[in-house]
Amino acid sequence: MTNHCKEPHVFRPLEGKNIVFGISGGIAAFKAADYIRGLKKLGANIKVVLTENGARFVTPLTFSALTGNPCFHSMFDQNNPSFMPHIELANWGDVLVILPASADIIGKTANGIADDLLTTLFLSFDSKKLVFPSMNPAMYENPAVQDNIQRLRDRGVVVVEPEEGTVVCGAKGRGRLPGFDTVLVQIRKALAHKDLKGLNILVTSGPTREPIDPIRFISNRSSGKMGLAIAKTAFIRGARVRLVTGPTCMEPPPYFGSIQVETANEMAQEVFREAEAADIIIMAAAVADYSPVTYSASKIKKSDQEMTIRLEKTTDILKELGARKKPGQILVGFCAETEDLIENGFKKLEQKNLDLIVANNITEPGAGFDWDTNKVYLIDPDKNIEELPLLHKEEVAERIFDRILKLNSGS
Ligand code: CTP
Repeated sequence: MTNHCKEPHVFRPLEGKNIVFGISGGIAAFKAADYIRGLKKLGANIKVVLTENGARFVTPLTFSALTGNPCFHSMFDQNNPSFMPHIELANWGDVLVILPASADIIGKTANGIADDLLTTLFLSFDSKKLVFPSMNPAMYENPAVQDNIQRLRDRGVVVVEPEEGTVVCGAKGRGRLPGFDTVLVQIRKALAHKDLKGLNILVTSGPTREPIDPIRFISNRSSGKMGLAIAKTAFIRGARVRLVTGPTCMEPPPYFGSIQVETANEMAQEVFREAEAADIIIMAAAVADYSPVTYSASKIKKSDQEMTIRLEKTTDILKELGARKKPGQILVGFCAETEDLIENGFKKLEQKNLDLIVANNITEPGAGFDWDTNKVYLIDPDKNIEELPLLHKEEVAERIFDRILKLNSGS
């Protein structure tokens, strides 16, 4: 039976992953509680190490309640002298995340000081380490802190730039802890197999808007979710990502470069410029096929007459990309249909000289515009048709890249 209810598809990208979460002394420690809750919901197992100063801002009980595990803060346990948490946690964790990382913890870890559980664990932990600095902007910009951050980076530690804005003490500048999405994506990236490393991937997303007058425009129902999921997935799997996006209600993420455009014409210009350097181009945007011939600089007033708006064809960006495709470049299109999905998809793949087309029937429940899920078919030039089940858009993105890598290897 078809499921018509808009129930969220369960997507748990951190299922079974063990995260050791180090919390040092900074006001952003309170955000760690919320982030840990979010990461747990996505399947992660979490054990928290709290520094002495961290425990001034948040309590161990908060974290043991949230994680279901004891909260670690001491190197020693009088009742169990053989238990060495810095070794046990190093063996258990797939990734060590320090969030928030104070100037003090950055200085100590960069210089090999090991005078408490978190700094000692940092030395014994030989899997991936992620550090999220958060502090007053003047402290963050201080050369001593910057030198220490560079030292950590030189040793392979991922130090994620804090965001700009107003910090708790009222100062403005770079020092704010990034939002949950950035933290999640960076953790997923640390844990991912980087099979897209070294590739330049250009993704388009969202609708375009074709203006009629200062108030009105012609657009479509694209939310931009599918394109954004593809761009994120490419980033997590190690690619250099450029996103060209039409207007959506989602903020472009800070961790890869985005270009925001409005019209089909603007999208065409940006895509043609970026396409030069791209190894893979994925056109997930719902580009308008027609645009008003004239634009009225003042508001069009209503009258008693019927109204006609003359439209002209826009450039078919993907077709143009297909015509000028460079050797080795992979071109992927999308195709949203209401009928004859496979035939229409294959026709577009041939006409636009594509290597893969992702076809979906937007009348199916859970597929297409605005849903978090999609139900697609992947079609290649040999007419191999792969039907994917209803999946979260990020899982669809994973499967698209798996398929692209197979195209690349010729299988
Ligand atoms: N596309 C594009 N430029 C356009 C229109 C579409 O690059 N002016 C791209 C879309 O991003 C998508 C693919 O072409 O990857 C197919 O888009 P779709 O709207 O399904 O098909 P069209 O070619 O526009 O044909 P039709 O609207 O008649 O189905």
